[in-house]
Order: sequence, then C-alpha cells, then structure tokens
Amino acid sequence: MIGKNIKIFDELDSTNNFVKRNISNLKHGCVVVSKKQTEGRGRRDNIWMSKEGNLYFSIVLKESIYRSSIFKYIVYSSVTLIETLKEYKIEALIKYPNDCLIESKKVSGILIESSGSMSLEYLVIGIGININQVKFNELSSKATSLKMVLEKSLDVDEVLQRYLKKFNDISNLDYNDVFKMYLNYSIVLDKKIKYQDEEYIISDIEKDGTLLIKNSLGERRVAYSEISLKEFY
Ligand code: BTN
Repeated sequence: MIGKNIKIFDELDSTNNFVKRNISNLKHGCVVVSKKQTEGRGRRDNIWMSKEGNLYFSIVLKESIYRSSIFKYIVYSSVTLIETLKEYKIEALIKYPNDCLIESKKVSGILIESSGSMSLEYLVIGIGININQVKFNELSSKATSLKMVLEKSLDVDEVLQRYLKKFNDISNLDYNDVFKMYLNYSIVLDKKIKYQDEEYIISDIEKDGTLLIKNSLGERRVAYSEISLKEFY
C-alpha cells in the first residue's frame, strides 16, 4: 500500500533528492513530504518554486518495474490527480505527458525519476501541487492554485491524504481503463505542435506514451521523453 509510511519534513532541498540519497533505507510505498523545498526541481532541469503552503511529495516505488513501463506511472499518477481534484469539484485536464491544468493554467507537475537500466532499482514519483499560493509573479499567466480557483485556503495534508487514497484505488484498476481516462482528460489530441522545426498535428497517444504526429509529409512516432510540448497551440 502506498502511503502507509509517510515521512514529513519542514524543509528539504527536494523530496526527490531526499529519496534518491536515502533509497536503501526507504521501503516500497513510502511517501516523503516537505512543507517547502530549497531546490525543488521540475522536468527538463526547470526549477520548481517551492514556498510553504503548497504540497511537495515523492512516492517511492520499489516493486519490479521495467523502464519500458514508466509511462504507466505517468498515467496512473496524473489520472489520480485529476480524480482527486474532482473531489473538490474542480475540473482539471492533462497536458501530455503529465502537467495538470485548470482553465489552461498549470496547477501541478510531476517529476518521475528512476535508477537502473531495463529493470529498475526504484522509481520515484515527485509531485508538486499549488494549493495556497496566490502570487506567481512572472508566471501568473501560466500558473494557478487550488486556492485561486476555489477562493478559499485548503488543508495541504488533507489534499495529500485524498491523493494517496485515490492513488491506491486507481492502481488497482486495469491499465487499459486508466489509460482511457487519461485520453479523455488529455488536451493535446488534434492540437498543432512544432517538432524539429516542422508543424504537425498530434493524432494519437499510444499506451506506452509514444506520440503519433502527422502532417502532409506523413506520420511520425515520437517517444514522450523526446518531445516538449512548450510549442503546442
Ligand atoms: C514539472 O512540472 O516540471 C514537474 C514538477 C515536479 C515538482 C515536484 S515537487 C516534489 C518533487 N520534488 C522535486 O524536487 N520535484 C518534485
């Protein structure tokens, strides 16, 4: 079960870093939470601003996991987030592969890291959810928080507990069903993107995360790790 053992810190550099440093002492399913992070990290070497009032946590997975199935965990963790927000009557959507958006603004990001080649030693799912932050400065046109949407503060720990419960429920479902949910929540299908300086339409997402993109010259298959959808519109 995920979240039976939760370690809570007032401050860490990054919950993902903590997990990676201490992996030999952490059991499968353990969750590491920090009230703030001094070196919060996002995908593609971005900084994840991590002031107090939001939720920053990492889930440790040590069961047998193959590198080829990492996308499954992207699907399970992002669908879990959407379903958790539904409990607060918030409708959120997924921007491939795993950003969670409310009214086109990012409310949450997920950074999955692992060690090992084919068969992984561990997988860490690091999740940041903007909960009570209301000032995003230069990111204000791109970022939002649950407080901004609901116009009230939320208890950060309650959001975590709801997320973990949902994660356990959704992990018990068949991947095909969860993947269908993922596609339903996905906002990128039929949208235009630029890839290697060419314009394409995203025509499909496969179960392993491969993106199908096409233009008048034909169709291409692109692995999720190879593409950044910064330029999608
Ligand atoms: C992204 O959208 O770029 C991913 C952001 C992931 C942020 C979370 S916060 C908890 C965990 N610890 C980190 O340093 N990063 C992830």
